[in-house]
Amino acid sequence: MSSTYLIEGLKCLEYRGYDSWGLAFKIGNNIEIKKEVGKISDIQIKKLGFPESHLAIGHSRWATHGKVNKTNAHPHSSENNEIVVAHNGIFENYLEVKKVLQKKGHKFLSETDSEVIAHLIEEHNKSHSFEESIKLAAGEIEGRYAIVVMKNDENKIIAARKGSPLIIGVGKNQDEYFIASDIPAFLKHTNKVIYLDDNQIVTIENGKIDFYDTVRREKIAKRIIEIDLDAETAEKGEFPHFMIKEIMEQKDTLARAINQDPAIIEKVAGEIKNAFGTYLIGCGTAGKVGMVGEYLFAKIAKKHINFSFGSEFANYKDFLNKKTLLIAISQSGETADTLEAIEIAKAKGVKVAAIVNVESSTMARTADIVIPIKAGLEKAVASTKATTSQLAILTLLAYTCDGGVKTGKQLLADTASQINDMINPRYEEHIMKIAKKISNVESMYIIGRGLNYPIALEAAIKLQEVSYIHAEGFAGGELKHGPLALISQNTPVIALVANDNTKKDILNNAAEIKARGGYIIGIAPENEDVFDFWIKVPDTGDTSPIVNIIPVQILAYQLAVLRQNDPDKPRNLAKSVTVK
Ligand code: AGP
Repeated sequence: MSSTYLIEGLKCLEYRGYDSWGLAFKIGNNIEIKKEVGKISDIQIKKLGFPESHLAIGHSRWATHGKVNKTNAHPHSSENNEIVVAHNGIFENYLEVKKVLQKKGHKFLSETDSEVIAHLIEEHNKSHSFEESIKLAAGEIEGRYAIVVMKNDENKIIAARKGSPLIIGVGKNQDEYFIASDIPAFLKHTNKVIYLDDNQIVTIENGKIDFYDTVRREKIAKRIIEIDLDAETAEKGEFPHFMIKEIMEQKDTLARAINQDPAIIEKVAGEIKNAFGTYLIGCGTAGKVGMVGEYLFAKIAKKHINFSFGSEFANYKDFLNKKTLLIAISQSGETADTLEAIEIAKAKGVKVAAIVNVESSTMARTADIVIPIKAGLEKAVASTKATTSQLAILTLLAYTCDGGVKTGKQLLADTASQINDMINPRYEEHIMKIAKKISNVESMYIIGRGLNYPIALEAAIKLQEVSYIHAEGFAGGELKHGPLALISQNTPVIALVANDNTKKDILNNAAEIKARGGYIIGIAPENEDVFDFWIKVPDTGDTSPIVNIIPVQILAYQLAVLRQNDPDKPRNLAKSVTVK
């Protein structure tokens, strides 16, 4: 039974890491391990003839410490091969612990921090019970982790977490349990879950489940929660890839984002008005959305809001106090850099609001107020529908802060319906013409101004992560201060144009590029003389960031396909970045 469950589960989780994978099965008093480099989605279960077992652990890796190879793949074994561990997160002090263990005679096979955990548990197990050894080891690990552990002569699986997600699925069959870093891994089998919180340990033995809190040093009871997630949303359906499926879903997702409990939007807008300093944080694409938020609040609500990447937020800690508001933006709700920023803020008494997609995530459960974006499961590594829904929420918040909730909602509803008209097969065919023309270029650039400057940065991320073409975004006005030197004959440059006070200037910037040989792809409501190729978008005013990013998403997807890249699982990346 377990090999099928494990592999199917790992396939659903592969978006979190997919450079290598491994499985460990407890067979009698032995643990058998199988590891491979590559994607587990390529595996055919029957052909490989994996052993069956009622206790097993699986892992798909996103390399942090050590190259992508079989030895560094999880699960890792201890010195005597009795203890096996799968680990998510980073064991920050692993080198110090490794040195101590080496002095005691431990020999390590891999370059990973994770292998050290297996050896550490084994060392404690020489004088303590299996459970106690895990508690002691957990107490020594600095950093974020989720670990799942088995021992050859124990009929149990023990898991512990601090900072990285671990969720338990309560199976339909009596005494059937699943432990995973995300719900889709077992959603096919159950929608009943128990969330393990930080500093908690779970032991599953012969159908019995026990929880222990390492801070309170006592056994604890946990609640079973029935979640409302549709397993169907995790399927590609008629689409060849999740990325294009999710791009197309934007016909509906925007409407879902705005048609939600107005009281939550009003509440957060009220908090922004009353706060003495509001910070927007996020990473990667969610960070670029936060940057757009800074412009939206300045333009619409005439309010200055600070933006910081999650990983840079610690630099502002001296300005945080009980009157500060932090708005965290995240699709997954599990991004370590953003979670750590929230921890810093909470320690200073800051109120935290989270704009998240995954409502069961650590971020959603940590925040004081949650604005769910309701985009549905986003599986492709490149964020698309979550991005535009987050942008919609920030636009609505900015309008609500200015007393214009109705105007904002109407604008977004009109935008949603214009997007519905815009993304059709003819539109995709039109963009494919330019995709074919530029599919072999080495570099391309994107320019924008005002609300569309952060969208130029986001466009660059989208193009980089799936097409692997060197792409960079710039504020139109910054070109003449350096980047213009990068332009040569036929260098493609996307100009993001909005029909607002930035229009004249961005068109001038495009002309400056064209004069130096650049090939101008205009994303704009109207065709302009300076464009060599025009992609039409509706003229939607303050929602131009939402409509302007969609054709770039389509272009990035098409370039990925033309260049034979996997748009859903780009090289070197993971969907949910749970390490710092
Ligand atoms: C998006 O296309 C990227 N894959 C990435 O930048 C992502 O937005 C970032 O890692 C933050 O993720 P989150 O929204 O889940 O916090």
